[in-house]
Amino acid sequence: MTEIKKVGILGSGIMGAGLAEVAARAGFDVVVRSRSLQTADAMIASIDKGFAKAIERGKSTEDERAAVLGRISATDQLGALADCDLVIESVVEDLAVKKALFAELEQIVKPSGIIATNTSTLPVVELAMQTKRPDKVCGIHFFNPAPAMKLVEVVRPLTASDETIAAAMAYATACGKDAVEVKDRAGFIVNALLFPYLNNAVRIWEQGTASIESIDTAMKGGCNFPMGPFALLDLVGLDTSVAILDALHAEFADPNYAAVPTLRRMVAAGHLGRKTKRGFYSY
Ligand SMILES: NC(=O)c1ccc[n+]([C@@H]2O[C@H](COP(=O)([O-])OP(=O)(O)OC[C@H]3O[C@@H](n4cnc5c(N)ncnc54)[C@H](O)[C@@H]3O)[C@@H](O)[C@H]2O)c1
Repeated sequence: MTEIKKVGILGSGIMGAGLAEVAARAGFDVVVRSRSLQTADAMIASIDKGFAKAIERGKSTEDERAAVLGRISATDQLGALADCDLVIESVVEDLAVKKALFAELEQIVKPSGIIATNTSTLPVVELAMQTKRPDKVCGIHFFNPAPAMKLVEVVRPLTASDETIAAAMAYATACGKDAVEVKDRAGFIVNALLFPYLNNAVRIWEQGTASIESIDTAMKGGCNFPMGPFALLDLVGLDTSVAILDALHAEFADPNYAAVPTLRRMVAAGHLGRKTKRGFYSY
């Protein structure tokens, strides 16, 4: 089986930062590629800040902080991913952007390297077909926040080899996660089930059924969910949420997947949730 020692992460947004931290905590050497060095450095600073808080609360140590951060390097050069055994792409949820990146990665990453995507919904096979190694492409879908969430969906496109899927499952397990294998269908397991619920939460609020706070309180107390649908939408990011719903709707044409108007208007207004400090709640 492909031995994974060095991991490349593409993208330094919410998920890129989480994926880098998870990999470094599991002992892998990690290189994060962002389009600008400034954002890559900001991502490392945010991981460092997380450690500072954890140390304050007695949940980490200076030694652990130094060891984990010592395994992460940041770059603005795609070429720095050349010798990675595994590259996980985690940029904006946009098929055209991801396809272009996969074509570029094919030229750069060593032929034995596995190229994976952290996409939430997009067809992994279309990314695989941008490369000359579709057998070495799969989805490795982490959840947000990646260091805390236990699940990883390993997505098997029609083109992937058993060896690639086994290596991806082993990687997720080495990261301390529970890995499940799933076919390459929009939304995989979790988002295919979760997003109609989130979308319908916004719909019943639009209809005046109850306030945002009441709906969140109801779903926490009534279903034992750790957070309500509006808090979760703000955490995921409303732009990412609309992209996920659009991909689900494009694949299944189910009206429950058609993003409600409020979500689109909020994205247009730049109210994207926690990452812009304003969504259904203010942060
Ligand atoms: N947010 C979540 O809850 C969540 C959970 C699991 C998976 N994902 C998936 O992870 C991926 C990243 O999502 P995120 O939440 O980190 O988003 P984000 O908005 O926080 O970050 C997006 C990243 O993509 C980069 N980017 C944007 N346009 C680009 C381009 N043209 N070329 C290269 N890089 C570009 C940005 O600079 C940024 O680093 C998406 O595929 C998303 O579906 C998100």
